[in-house]
This record gives sequence, C-alpha cells and structure tokens, in this order.
Amino acid sequence: MTDARQLVIAIDGPAGSGKSTIAARLAKKLGYVNLESGAMYRAIALKALEHQVDLDDASALRSLADTTVIRLEPQPDGNRVLLDDRDVSQRIRESDVTLAASRVSVHPAVRQVMVARQRAMGARGGVVMEGRDIGTAVFPSADVKVFLDADPRIRAERRVAQNSTHTPEEARRIVEDLIARDQRDRTRAVSPLVPASDAVILDSTNLSIDDVVDRVEELVRQKLSS
Ligand code: DC
Repeated sequence: MTDARQLVIAIDGPAGSGKSTIAARLAKKLGYVNLESGAMYRAIALKALEHQVDLDDASALRSLADTTVIRLEPQPDGNRVLLDDRDVSQRIRESDVTLAASRVSVHPAVRQVMVARQRAMGARGGVVMEGRDIGTAVFPSADVKVFLDADPRIRAERRVAQNSTHTPEEARRIVEDLIARDQRDRTRAVSPLVPASDAVILDSTNLSIDDVVDRVEELVRQKLSS
C-alpha cells in the first residue's frame, strides 16, 4: 500500500499483546518507520542500573534522561537500540531491565523527556509507533489508533514460547512478572495504560498475527480513502 499521505499510526497495549510484531509488519507493508517507544524506557532503565541510580529517585532519573542519547534504528525485524552510541538491543530485553523499565516509566519527569523525543521522532509522519500511551499522550491526534489486548495467560504463554529453554519455575516467574508489570502500567498516576477514547480495540486472544495486521491495515486503508 503506498500513498503520499504519511500517517501517524499509534499501537498501544500491554506486554505480550503482539504490539511489536504487528507494528513491525505493518510498518514494512506500508513502507513506514517502526518506532518502539518501550525500548527508550528500557534503555534509560539500563543506564540507571549501570550507574546505580535509585529507581525511585525521580529527579536523578530525570537528570540521567536529560543527558542520555537514545537512538532507535528501525531494522527489518525490530529496532536496533543505541544507548549513548552503544548497541544495547539485546541487553535491554533481559529481565532485570524489564523490571527496571516498568519502575522508571512511572515517573512523570522521565516520561516528559521521553514523550518529547518520541514526538520529535514521529513529527513528519510515516510512522508506526508502539507503546502504552502513544494514542493518549504522545500523539493524541494520531491518524489511526489501535489498542491491542489479549488474555493475560495467553500473553504470558506467548512470552514463554519465545524462549524454549525456560524451566517450569522460570516460566511461572514470567507469568507472575507480566501480571505485576501490567498492574503497574495500568494503575500508574501518569499516562496509565488505557485505550484512547477513539482507539479501535482489538483483542488478539483468538486472532493470528496476520489477522491483526490485516485488520489494522484495513483501518489505515479507510483513513487514507477518507
Ligand atoms: O513495551 P515494553 O515491554 O518494551 O515496555 C517496557 C516498559 O516501558 C513497560 O513496563 C511499560 C513502559 N512503557 C511506557 O510506560 N510507555 C510506553 N510508551 C512504552 C513503554
């Protein structure tokens, strides 16, 4: 699908809802840039861990964010993430960083910095940006807004299935961590994970990735022809 109009497409949803895969596929189909906002919270969380910054200290985290360069480089299979020019694409997926990102992202002062940068990245359109607050806070006037959800057990199972080497104990921990992280994302005071009032809600519990991509593509098509 090609069109001169360069839309902003916001895809929000909880962990394991399939956002990243769907955003990457959709961006590829549309010839758009795919930006994974969660990677930015993960990168700043990694730096906080490395510099032993207290994850509850909002002002120290804000200073850290202000002086940190995070670059997202879209690749065919997701974003390459550079933290002050160091490739941290793999490291930020590890469980200590995942947990820290969830804590760092509750602070409004940190979010302010990240949201401003995300807006700048998407300002020219032609982007599929995925996260938790893209349709509500980063781009409230995005052209297409999708909120992807799925049953928590299914989401956790998808996460477990991404790595076949997990022991049953590790698998159980993944489920528990995902549920705890969800709870924190949905109940935090600033920009909690909620669908925008004008978002299309898609429940992917019983849908394949292709089904979801087709549905979102249809929404884009409708927007382009409107
Ligand atoms: O999507 P993810 O799992 O990579 O996100 C990592 C953390 O960052 C997650 O706990 C929620 C947070 N996040 C956020 O608060 N806002 C976003 N736009 C994206 C992610």
